[in-house]
Amino acid sequence: MSRIRLYLSNDTSSCAAGAERLAEAWRQRSDVELVRTSSRGAFYLEPMVERESPEVRLAWCQVTADDLPKILAGNGGIPVSTIPFLSRQTRHTFVSFGVTEPLSLEAYLAQGGFAGLRAARQVSPSAIIQEIKTSRLRGRGGAAFPVWKKWEVAATTTADRKYVVANADEGDAGTYCDRMIMEGDPFRLIEGMLICARAIGASAGYIYCRQEYPAARASLHAAILAADTAGWLESDGRPFTIEVVSGAGSYVCGEETALLESLEGRRGVVRARPPHPAQSGLYGQPTIVSNVLTFATIPNILARGGAWHASLGTEGSRGTIALQLGGRVKQPGLIEIPFGLTLRAVLDQFGQGMADGARLKAVQVGGPLGSLFTDAQLDIPICFDAFAKADAILGHGGIVVFDDETDILELSRHLMAFVADESCGKCVPCRIGSLRAREILEAIQQGQATAADLSLLTELGDTMKATSLCGLGARAPYPVLSALEQFPVEFRSRLRS
Ligand SMILES: Cc1cc2nc3c(=O)[nH]c(=O)nc-3n(C[C@H](O)[C@H](O)[C@H](O)COP(=O)(O)O)c2cc1C
Repeated sequence: MSRIRLYLSNDTSSCAAGAERLAEAWRQRSDVELVRTSSRGAFYLEPMVERESPEVRLAWCQVTADDLPKILAGNGGIPVSTIPFLSRQTRHTFVSFGVTEPLSLEAYLAQGGFAGLRAARQVSPSAIIQEIKTSRLRGRGGAAFPVWKKWEVAATTTADRKYVVANADEGDAGTYCDRMIMEGDPFRLIEGMLICARAIGASAGYIYCRQEYPAARASLHAAILAADTAGWLESDGRPFTIEVVSGAGSYVCGEETALLESLEGRRGVVRARPPHPAQSGLYGQPTIVSNVLTFATIPNILARGGAWHASLGTEGSRGTIALQLGGRVKQPGLIEIPFGLTLRAVLDQFGQGMADGARLKAVQVGGPLGSLFTDAQLDIPICFDAFAKADAILGHGGIVVFDDETDILELSRHLMAFVADESCGKCVPCRIGSLRAREILEAIQQGQATAADLSLLTELGDTMKATSLCGLGARAPYPVLSALEQFPVEFRSRLRS
């Protein structure tokens, strides 16, 4: 009997949504050949099953095991290309998602994989850095620092050893695109790290991977082995090793200097800067610490040219951004688009509005340290400059939508309590400030605070912003102060009269 090939995502989110149950139900069938792919990231449609038809690829969405006869008969599928959530995107970094088998090196090569590394190997290290400069790529981990500047510092610093470290700690609530890359397209991350290694002259790489990502670590281990076996893991004729290290399970370990402490085997405590890691990082050697998505963006830049990348996006934010839309919208999922679309357009065009008739109350962009936006503020373009001007951050591209049942005061307390728990304790403004801020918020909740306490909260927030050693303490006040500004009644109505 001829078997019909069906494609089903193996991504952790897809499996949580039911893909693994389908795989279990269908694995033994003699009429089905099941191919496990990465996910397209349209998580509201998962589990999604696809099959080739003569002209188009068809998809069946929110599938149950009982849908198999219909799928095998070819009834009721919709062309993948007609799903607006996907067709409205501009996929470059996530172009293979939902298409290829994550651990197939052949599939990666067939999709143009390692073309960027090949191009990089044909030019000098300084020419690679020039290409990155032309691309105007800024880091995607949160700080949005120009990538080429870090590379140039590491390349021009003399040292016996240099390192490349992928920051895969992905601690921001509501973000998952790094996980998707590691699980679904691990060779792209490896290729980006190899290009960086050649540019700066590094001989070893580490991937510091969030502890809660076992599937990502397994995928990386297998991909590193496959790349090594195929002879890709070398730089300038010398072996280039890549080791996957499990994160320590702390939010602050995503901060680059705390990450390096943790990688060296100590508690994840922030280091004072300067020196920056590009000058003196892992074991005191020049080290590039960059986000997984940043590294995964690099291969296309080398393969297609820096000018191509710079032609996308807005003046200060070139290329595409990977947004991860979650919370109370109808259509949560991964969205790759050029910078510049407004937050409102993203919620309308991709989120398709609020779930279950709920009403929007606030949108938090950029993880637990990100500011809150109200409906009136949603016309802000998604780019680094507009967000900086609005005293907000894009962070790692997480967007969480809250409905009108959300208690903003409790949300503010929760976010400050998170910082108090996660503070590494090295600097007083963060260690003590977050505790005192949490106590004031709790006193407001209990009806025991006065207007003077609200002023103190604002003053404390301003001090934390100005004096904390790293972004954890410096950004912690933003959600709370933005909540206070946008929803003053929710705070003031709970004060002691
Ligand atoms: C508290 C805190 C947590 C962070 N967590 C992460 C993280 O999980 N992943 C990440 O890439 N960057 C994180 N960062 C940013 C890093 O310090 C650093 O800016 C980033 O790894 C640089 O990579 P990029 O240039 O590719 O953005 C965090 C920063 C702070 C202050």
